[in-house]
Amino acid sequence: MNIKSQIQASKVPTHIAVIMDGNGRWAKKQGKARVFGHKNGVKSVREIIETSAEIGVRYLTLYAFSTENWNRPKLEVKTLMSLLVSSLKKELASLQKNNVKLQTIGNLKHLPVKAQKEISEVTAKTKNNSKITLTLALSYGAREEIVQAIQKISKKVVNNALNIKEIDEKIINNHLYTFTLPDVDLLIRTSGEKRISNFLLWQIAYAELYFTEVLWPDFRKEHLYQAIVEYQNRERRFGKTSEQIKNKNE
Ligand code: FPP
Repeated sequence: MNIKSQIQASKVPTHIAVIMDGNGRWAKKQGKARVFGHKNGVKSVREIIETSAEIGVRYLTLYAFSTENWNRPKLEVKTLMSLLVSSLKKELASLQKNNVKLQTIGNLKHLPVKAQKEISEVTAKTKNNSKITLTLALSYGAREEIVQAIQKISKKVVNNALNIKEIDEKIINNHLYTFTLPDVDLLIRTSGEKRISNFLLWQIAYAELYFTEVLWPDFRKEHLYQAIVEYQNRERRFGKTSEQIKNKNE
């Protein structure tokens, strides 16, 4: 049976997050430089955004550049940054056409000014789009995100704007970069690595994790369908028993 037809429209994950891994290995396998993999990875990014929008995913969050990625060779970092700028320029029309709202999470002030400018332009131009919210994690690290949330909350406590007793999960959520996003339902990592790598640690508390051997530049819509079908066949219990989930009135 065709894999797409196995997807149940009523159970499409609301929020999918992706760790796009394997670009370097993909290029190396062909005797090419790592940046060749990143360039081809952009094609997968485009296909996955379009496919997600088409099947009704409301939030797609992509790990494009981690706080640790700054330690890569200078040339690779430079190429990734210019790839980001050129992709944003090139894809703006298609983001508009597909009704995609772009936003970012991460510490953007470390990015080159050119990249910061392009991001704020595309973010502003797409802010009223409503079919799907595409969040690019750039210079992002989940621990750093939690640290800055604690700093902001502590400041409010010190200034008597917040009582310690009021601090709950919702308050913490509201101080994360992702305050406008719901929790992640499905986290996909490509390339066979089975790690979280400091991505959305708080937000994946109850996410289903899906690991595939496919390298990111090879990741096509059929692979996304496959991940969603597997997600739909799992039972999300949120700490409850299987019986409770089957009998929702309990
Ligand atoms: C991981 O592969 C990928 C990255 C660190 C960068 C992801 C970037 C893109 C797909 C392109 C730019 C993105 C946008 C949104 C325009 P890796 O280099 O770690 O691969 P390896 O593990 O095989 O070395």
